[in-house]
Amino acid sequence: MSGPLVLAIESSCDETGIALVEGGRTIHSNVVASQVAMHAAAGGIVPEVAARAHLRWIVPVLDEAMEGAGSGWADIDAVAVTRGPGLAGSLLVGINFAKALAFAWQKPLVGVNHLEGHVYAAWLREAKRAGDPQTAGTVDADAGWPEPVFPLVALVVSGGHTFLAEMRDHLTYRLLGQTVDDAAGEAFDKVGRLLGLGYPGGPAIMRAAAGASARDVVFPRAWLGDTYDFSFSGLKTAARRIVDAARQVEGLPALADVPAVDAGQLSSERQAELAYGFQESVLDVLVTKTIRAARETSARSIVLGGGVAANRILRERLAARAVEAGVPLIVPAPALCTDNGAMIGAAGAWRFAAGERAGLDLDARPSLPLARR
Ligand code: KG4
Ligand code: ZN
Repeated sequence: MSGPLVLAIESSCDETGIALVEGGRTIHSNVVASQVAMHAAAGGIVPEVAARAHLRWIVPVLDEAMEGAGSGWADIDAVAVTRGPGLAGSLLVGINFAKALAFAWQKPLVGVNHLEGHVYAAWLREAKRAGDPQTAGTVDADAGWPEPVFPLVALVVSGGHTFLAEMRDHLTYRLLGQTVDDAAGEAFDKVGRLLGLGYPGGPAIMRAAAGASARDVVFPRAWLGDTYDFSFSGLKTAARRIVDAARQVEGLPALADVPAVDAGQLSSERQAELAYGFQESVLDVLVTKTIRAARETSARSIVLGGGVAANRILRERLAARAVEAGVPLIVPAPALCTDNGAMIGAAGAWRFAAGERAGLDLDARPSLPLARR
């Protein structure tokens, strides 16, 4: 495969990611240092702690990414970095690191929108590695790595964002709908805390829900008419009420009367049942609206991305409904759905090919909207 070799840096939230990606598609290395364990103790991300951890890890992550790809600086065509949206302090670490590398090595610098990265993760595939049975032989076998086809509908569901967009070509987006309050991942994290499942809530709720034997508790769905918008804050309030009712049955004090971190005294069967009901509510709305959008825009592919796309039930259900609708679903491996450098390398390659170059005055844009400058 040909195309530029992009060194890509992601540090917008709580993962320090650096990757080498060729031609916007082929991953030569993709190293992620996660701060999840560190933030779990606090029950969420502490921005100052996150920025300091990026500083601590960014050099070792770069070294590992370069080594893993077997590349030297001479091979690299551009440096891409997430410029927003995200936490200001975290973004600044990656941006300034990218600027220093681009300046020192005289490489072009490209600023990338994090959300565009989540969309472009759908184009990624592993490079063939000699002796590695998992990837050997796949590099040229496009059949195993289908490429999204335009027009497409992209659903991005992460900890900070939830939106549906239509793409008729590369780098162009028509926003179909977005959350009017909380992001889907945020709802998972908050309800995970209410259930005493810890942080991050997404993977914990998925695991708990898988063990549910009773499935009787139904959580509300916010359909918002026939719009493509989403709302999850009412669901969070309903979850509080439902959890409190369950706590009462089990003879536990109300949530309001216990410190949040001590809320995890519900029996595991009850936790599982409530996790299941909550997850069903979120996924039902996400899947239903995405399939309707795909049908109404005559999409030829559906692309799914963002941390919540690592959810196995969401992947399976959307895949099944996409088959019924006759539209292929492209969903990256779970590790490419959560924040990583490779997705920034994929989007960065297209921005680079379009002639975009950032100067050394590139700044963090904590509230950067999708693909608007
Ligand atoms: O995209 P991401 O890694 O970071 C942001 O850009 O926000 O998404 C993180 C979010 C968190 O809210 C996390 O709970 C959620 O993705 N998440 C999941 C799963 N894995 C991560 N949600 C549901 N099921 C999962 N398996
Ligand atoms: Zn993200």
